[in-house]
Amino acid sequence: MLPDNPWAQALRDLRLDVGERATDVQTERWVQANVEYFDGLLWEAANRAEGRIPSLDDYVAMWLKQSGVYPCVVFTDIACGYEVPAADWAGRRARTLREMTAVLIGWDNDLTSYDKEVARAAERNFPVVQNLVSVLAAQYALPAGTGLAYSPYLLHRDPGVFADPDRFDPDRWLPERAASVSKDAFVPFGGGVHKCIGDTFGMTEATLALATIAARWTLTPEFRGPVEPAPRRATLSPARLPMRVAGRP
Ligand code: HEM
Repeated sequence: MLPDNPWAQALRDLRLDVGERATDVQTERWVQANVEYFDGLLWEAANRAEGRIPSLDDYVAMWLKQSGVYPCVVFTDIACGYEVPAADWAGRRARTLREMTAVLIGWDNDLTSYDKEVARAAERNFPVVQNLVSVLAAQYALPAGTGLAYSPYLLHRDPGVFADPDRFDPDRWLPERAASVSKDAFVPFGGGVHKCIGDTFGMTEATLALATIAARWTLTPEFRGPVEPAPRRATLSPARLPMRVAGRP
């Protein structure tokens, strides 16, 4: 039950307006999307009241609600006259598409509206600006004006972390050498809320495959010259590396 004040009344009016233009199913989806949106806004308001800039992990998780893209997705359906069947709407494919829309539009919006948000915070005396830019700056203590790019490629070739980074040197992963590599410096499975869910499986499978092959066969390179990495691949693998396989006695 909404309280009796002008803001609640405005919400009621909006709900009635939407109800006149949308089907019952679209209206219910719009209401649900707004419940999520308001949940995000409340979280944002609580942060502001306490003068707290959220951690990057919290911001990324809550921002899907707080960016307000979900109600807009429903508005698009209403405007275009679509009523996606219930099974499709609740299904994985449509949910994925909605999340992709929220990610693409919302993050872009964070960057383009940053200046406006800074100005508005000054105007209204808000203690903090909650935007990807300020969250990143707070999390990593970055001075204003710092350029920022995330590149696993560069991270994995940082000579300060990996000696002779371009050399194929599997021994760099021996326990005594790997101990000095921080877990944030090696991110083959990504990070944050979308970190690969197959990381442990992938490592276990690779270890078992290697142990099985090495126990039964000896592999000798049939190749002269330096081994070149395959071009334009996300993961590192050789471009061409013919091997002679001989069964172990
Ligand atoms: C050595 C093998 C693998 C590598 C190098 C790898 C790498 C990655 C990377 C870099 C990401 C993106 C993370 C991000 O956006 O920050 C990812 C996401 C993902 N991976 Fe893997 N992966 C591997 C194996 C697997 C396996 C075996 C599975 C399934 C059993 C899997 C399922 C997923 C899923 C579902 C996501 C998306 C997670 C999300 O967006 O929430 N991966 N992986």
